[in-house]
Amino acid sequence: MIKRIGMFAALAAMMFVGGASAETTIAGGMSTGDGDAKAGKTKSELCQGCHGVNGISIDPTTFPNLAGQYAGYIFKQVQDFQLGNRQDDTMSAMAATVTSKQDLKDIAVYFASQKQMKGSGGSNKAGAKLFKSGNKKLGNYGACVRCHGKNGKGKGKNNSLFPIIGGQQKAYLIKQLKDFKGGKRANDPAGMMAMVAKGLSDKEIKAVSEYVSGL
Ligand code: HEC
Ligand code: HEC
Repeated sequence: MIKRIGMFAALAAMMFVGGASAETTIAGGMSTGDGDAKAGKTKSELCQGCHGVNGISIDPTTFPNLAGQYAGYIFKQVQDFQLGNRQDDTMSAMAATVTSKQDLKDIAVYFASQKQMKGSGGSNKAGAKLFKSGNKKLGNYGACVRCHGKNGKGKGKNNSLFPIIGGQQKAYLIKQLKDFKGGKRANDPAGMMAMVAKGLSDKEIKAVSEYVSGL
């Protein structure tokens, strides 16, 4: 276990170096400055039906927020759904409707330009501890803050490898962590996120999701 953690930590460290190259690889060709938010507003009407006009989900129990998420991350996720690297009955079908890369860039930039998702405070002590310093099983490798940034607000526009999770819907966070843990979602670079999720108990998943959604 420790050996594996070392290997993954090294991989993760590599990815921290040179945000620009990570952007190109990870975002599948989208770079900062690509896309037109105004065009994206019209082109994303279908998406707004679930993710909200301003990117705040219309149903917190089912749909994630996209507001203020990195454009490169949105771009990658939709492509992953299109390629079958990530699967969800509803969203895979929606992703298939976007047939032009330019449309997808415009849509991604539109949601990214919206007022960033934000939690309503609240706190969970066990979740906060896990977020800041990991747990016994994973050690500091599991500390969400290392990769998702202070308050889960990411590491800046030039590093869309690590998504914004602070203020994301709680039910969605729980589902993703369980999907990573069980292997249903496996589109994370170098298996970084699966590695973390597999070291979390269901109780810890609930606690950290409650904490992160409040940020
Ligand atoms: C009918 C509802 C619905 C519509 C319409 C819809 N989505 Fe989704 N979307 C979902 C659901 C459900 C998920 C969560 C999937 C999962 O659990 O993995 C999701 C997830 C996503 C994600 C992943 C978010 C993340 O943080 O990783 C992105 C990006 C996304 N949708 C973009 C879009 C875009 C772009 C459109 C328009 C072309 C769209 N969606 C239309 C239901 C919808
Ligand atoms: C070693 C780096 C790393 C650590 C530590 C880490 N993550 Fe992640 N996480 C990632 C990466 C990379 C992704 C994006 C995967 C992708 O591209 O699909 C991700 C994605 C996610 C997602 C999906 C977001 C979305 O919008 O779809 C959630 C939820 C998440 N992480 C929660 C956590 C939590 C909670 C912790 C702490 C317990 C944590 N992560 C620790 C690297 C990390």
